Amino acid sequence: MKEQIVTTLAAAIPSLTAEEISSLIEIPPTPDMGDFAFPCFRLAKTLRKAPPMIASEIAASLSLPDAVDEVKVVGAYINFFLKKEGFVASILEKVRKENYGSSSEGEGKTICIDYSSPNVAKNFHVGHLRTTIIGNSLHLIFKKLGYHVERINHLGDWGTQFGKLIVAYKNWGSEEAVKEKGIEELMRLYVLFHQEADKDPALEDEARAWFAKMEQGDEEALSIWKWFVDISLEEFKRTYKLLGMEFDHYTGESFYRDKTADVVKRLSDAGILTESEGARIVDLSAYDMAPCLILKKDGSSIYATRDIAAIIYRKENYNFEKCLYVTGQEQRLHFRQVFKVMELLGNEWAKDGLVHIPYGLVSLGGEKLSSRDGNVIFAEDILLEAVKKVREIIEERNPELEDKDTVAEKVGVGAVIFNDLYNQRIKDVSFRWEHLLNFEGETGPYVQYTYARCSSILRKVENYSPDADIDCSYLTDEASLALLKQLELFPSAVQEAATRYEPCVIARYAIAVAQAFNHYYTVNRINVPEDNIRNARVLLVDITRRTLRDALALLGITCVEAM
Ligand code: ARG
Repeated sequence: MKEQIVTTLAAAIPSLTAEEISSLIEIPPTPDMGDFAFPCFRLAKTLRKAPPMIASEIAASLSLPDAVDEVKVVGAYINFFLKKEGFVASILEKVRKENYGSSSEGEGKTICIDYSSPNVAKNFHVGHLRTTIIGNSLHLIFKKLGYHVERINHLGDWGTQFGKLIVAYKNWGSEEAVKEKGIEELMRLYVLFHQEADKDPALEDEARAWFAKMEQGDEEALSIWKWFVDISLEEFKRTYKLLGMEFDHYTGESFYRDKTADVVKRLSDAGILTESEGARIVDLSAYDMAPCLILKKDGSSIYATRDIAAIIYRKENYNFEKCLYVTGQEQRLHFRQVFKVMELLGNEWAKDGLVHIPYGLVSLGGEKLSSRDGNVIFAEDILLEAVKKVREIIEERNPELEDKDTVAEKVGVGAVIFNDLYNQRIKDVSFRWEHLLNFEGETGPYVQYTYARCSSILRKVENYSPDADIDCSYLTDEASLALLKQLELFPSAVQEAATRYEPCVIARYAIAVAQAFNHYYTVNRINVPEDNIRNARVLLVDITRRTLRDALALLGITCVEAM
């Protein structure tokens, strides 16, 4: 449509190229000003006339293309009004396509996403809930664009803390308690270790010795450690199941324990490993950063060493185009250091192939979130609480609903996910049940409800066929056009979300579609007796339904057919 207008204008304005004209064309703020507008200010200099006069003269000389109904001059602007039916038909042609919103830009390219990555023997807390939700959504968005994605869970399952845990377990723990209470008990033991070590510093040496044993492959040390990992993973997986999420690799820090020697070798071969107070570091002062610690005084590797090993491993095994890291913003410096070290090792690709994707905090906003002993909040408890609350709402408003438990689970979990993704990542997320479960607000339940409403309409109509030809003149009213314009924006929303690594673009898009639909639905009766009117209107319901479903799916939210 725009191209036709550009061609027409280009024929009438020899002093501008088609590209220049195209970049000047604007979309007017309100429909009464037309669908496209061309401002004539730029021409005043060359033509030595007042812009409004130029506008009138050009408008009078135009031979209008097929798509245009009329032109009106307002001040210095030439406003183009499209033939509405043609406009509707052109949008419908795009949005009716199968896989609408997908593209093949990522074909043949791999993206690694390192996200979730909770710490073994610690609770899967609300911060980890954020990386899990954001990382999962990014994976879905990139898949939609045709990329091959590797979902990597870089579990915190190695480090000196496990030496402490073994000491605590051996001194004050019992197999039964760990079996019964799982992570909660491991956390209790860890806290206890620090209390006791304050009184008896020798415990610290004992802990270091146990970790050293782990690094040397001692059987007893490793079997206790492995047990703690398994117990933790089992609990984490419960949370992933509730969220409906999976990973391709559970390659935690321990996976790289036999690969850190190679890191040290590479760094020293490259001549960038230096000694500092007995430790081995990479000096980054030239880049205004603290040094990157590689080996501690006792020779043990650290978090950063294992991250460097992981990058080398991933590049070699997955040949990624990009490797994304979704963690809290407090790890900014860590990733800048690690990425810089990769660059210093001569890897040009590290410059834009490694991307840290930080996010803000979760503020509980004075909410009472149920916590387990010791006052820690587990992500699982938050999700279960949301499900429980939705279950109560259903019982109150729609007790006849079928399969209430499944619906409550999808809507409750969906509400938590949507609440997380609705704002830019870096903003803090606040947690208020009355907000996040408000069926009329900018929430997951609102979008899911709109989807269910579309489904219910479709269940009631007869003789609807999604592929039938329809008469576009029945979709030219303002509400239908506004909805169609929203539906048309889906591919660009997916694109923008990927470029900015911002799932909020999709969340906001879903709200805009739901709102446009609800307006459309208020002003247009759908199930009318006239076949051709009904078919046209139902088609719009059907496309809205699919687009909402696909948009929510990109956030990791599943729809329900009734709620
Ligand atoms: N386990 C870490 C934490 O809980 C996050 C790991 C992020 N990924 C990485 N490759 N460093 O803070």
